[in-house]
Amino acid sequence: MPNRPHVIDEMISAKAIAARIETLAREIKQEFADTDKLVVIGLLRGSFVFIADLVRELDMVVEVDFLEASSYGDGMESSREVRILKDLRGQIADRDVLVVEDIVDTGHTLAHVTDYLGTRHPRKLKTIALLDKPARREVGFKADWIGFEIPDEFVVGYGIDFAQRNRNLPYIGKVRFI
Ligand code: IMP
Ligand code: MG
Repeated sequence: MPNRPHVIDEMISAKAIAARIETLAREIKQEFADTDKLVVIGLLRGSFVFIADLVRELDMVVEVDFLEASSYGDGMESSREVRILKDLRGQIADRDVLVVEDIVDTGHTLAHVTDYLGTRHPRKLKTIALLDKPARREVGFKADWIGFEIPDEFVVGYGIDFAQRNRNLPYIGKVRFI
């Protein structure tokens, strides 16, 4: 599939992403204003650029942790059955937690991950995703914050891959086969 000839068209510029993150960070700081330390959990690997930019806009005490859930593999289709491949290093019981995801697509990943983390009884558990494709939803999951709503297109860049490529693009682009 990744060998199929394609081009990448810019969909969301690096500048637009940065501006949106400033706004989101302000809202997150308000939501967690009474928190002594926020645990920010990035879902590997797609969220690594987003979480890096987001935490640098949060001038509050944060701890960063990562969780890896099974995903697409090398294809373009969601696997639906979600497994935890790498667990957190830290504790979240009684803590305020923000889960950071790249995209909500079918919704299975975040629905599963929030159920899983919820069993550890965090004080507050919120979710943020940079992108949302509501047209693709299969389970009734809604993130607390969304960067951008996008149509049903396969996107790459800003941490997001197509068969492990294009994560290093500074913008979000859509894959167009030629
Ligand atoms: P969900 O479980 O279907 O919501 O899938 C979420 C995961 O699928 C995201 O964390 C991404 O890793 C992956 N994904 C969904 N849409 C895209 C896309 O357009 N490009 C690359 N990865 C995607
Ligand atoms: Mg993912």
